[in-house]
Amino acid sequence: MVERIKVEFKPFSAPAGGDLVIFVNDALETGARAAEILGGTVLETIARAAGAEHFKGKAKKTLILPAPQGLAADRLIIVGTGPAAEIASLDWLNLGGVVQGALKGERATVAADLPDHEFSAVQAGDLALGMQLRAYRFDRYKTKKENGEEPPKAPKITILAADPAAIKRAGKTAEALGAGIAVARDLVNEPPNVLFPEEFANRAQALEKLGVTVEVLDEKDLKKLGFRALLGVGQGSHRESRVVVMRWNGGADKEKPVAIIGKGVTFDTGGISIKPAAGMEDMKGDMAGAACVVGLMHALAARKAKVNAVGLIGLVENMPDGRAQRPGDIVTSLSGQTIELINTDAEGRLVLADMLWYAQDRFKPVFMVDLATLTGAIMVALGQEHAGLFSNDDTLAERLAQAGTTTGEKVWRMPLAPAYDKLIDSKFADMKNTGGRHGGSITAAQFLQRFVNGTPWAHLDIAGTGMNAPQSDINKSWGSGWGVRLLDRLVRDHYEA
Ligand code: BES
Ligand code: MN
Ligand code: ZN
Repeated sequence: MVERIKVEFKPFSAPAGGDLVIFVNDALETGARAAEILGGTVLETIARAAGAEHFKGKAKKTLILPAPQGLAADRLIIVGTGPAAEIASLDWLNLGGVVQGALKGERATVAADLPDHEFSAVQAGDLALGMQLRAYRFDRYKTKKENGEEPPKAPKITILAADPAAIKRAGKTAEALGAGIAVARDLVNEPPNVLFPEEFANRAQALEKLGVTVEVLDEKDLKKLGFRALLGVGQGSHRESRVVVMRWNGGADKEKPVAIIGKGVTFDTGGISIKPAAGMEDMKGDMAGAACVVGLMHALAARKAKVNAVGLIGLVENMPDGRAQRPGDIVTSLSGQTIELINTDAEGRLVLADMLWYAQDRFKPVFMVDLATLTGAIMVALGQEHAGLFSNDDTLAERLAQAGTTTGEKVWRMPLAPAYDKLIDSKFADMKNTGGRHGGSITAAQFLQRFVNGTPWAHLDIAGTGMNAPQSDINKSWGSGWGVRLLDRLVRDHYEA
């Protein structure tokens, strides 16, 4: 469920009810405008309460005063920012998450004010986005109230700023990103009986409302085009496979697009090489790559990004019925290269093989980035803090690494090399779909590289970050929506007019 909070920017004025949020540094000082709203008596109460609670204004620490005397607010929430000297480089996104986490009311006023500090548009936007991300909930399938309480309504947020007009655009961008990330999280969280390939394609089609051109290829189309590797994965399922092409043309007419490609296995049983029962329910998240692509296209369109972007997602369900493909089968991919199946659970690369080939062949993009919950091995290598980055292009890899540092959606570059590539040579076909026990994430990436035809390309293995991700100030959701902010940043910093 998209739990959308509404954030608006307004000039300073006294709040009327609801939660009031103020910021203080480690000297317990707030800005002059905020202080004026509070008044002398309340400021004294804050000082006393801070002493009593040992609140020192450290970054992300909060102090809450219910029913503050002399203030027209239900609760006063005091949020620490740490030392004044460090405020310029403070992580306002995560602080926004902390602020949202402290709210209770249906209405909140956030006084964006600190001594000797003008909130920049970026900081205000980050604050608003952090609040939106933290407010996300997925409770569509909860029919009972928790603790007998009504679930809290999405609050109306007003951010008071010295110059609201100056940061309004940043607010719009934050709203677009927040919405895109919520879309991605929803898709990952949905159960696999609800979200199968056809339904996923329907949800992607909703992007048309934002001006995105959406094209859905069904099995008949895919057969005709020659997507045999992708269709092979889906052939053991009663659910039909789909490919969705989404185009946002915000750039110049003849400008080559950027291409973002997502693995969309709506459920991965492993197929005939079936997975163990424990934890298999998590494999509903094996479409987190595709979810990110839809979320990103949503964000780009909603903020009217000045870029030509094409998003492509390969949607299949990997099931083990009587028509399922077998280990030993040889399939001919869209590229013409043949693949011997060793393990039907290495299905994501089969889907992506056809998607990558199709993307470069049809769109001649400036670059391709694919996102895929591709290997368990990437979690062995990197845990859940970094996504694995593989690339044939140092500039693209460097830009992604930089965007990762800026957004906190971190990537770590892994090697590609001929010595790894030869591990997937096959006795019977051009290649096989697994490379043995060692370097599992690398051999998977080598496999993908055989289908990029020299196009600048990066592969992000998001098995550890896209689903079942660590909780943070800005994410309490199982499906994290990882990658939307990263790729939006990449586009914004390097590919927008
Ligand atoms: N979807 C899985 C990878 C995965 C595992 C994602 C755990 C998220 C959490 C992928 O299709 C898969 O099964 N990969 C195999 C590859 C192996 C058969 C070479 C794996 O990682 O075990
Ligand atoms: Mn698998
Ligand atoms: Zn999979």
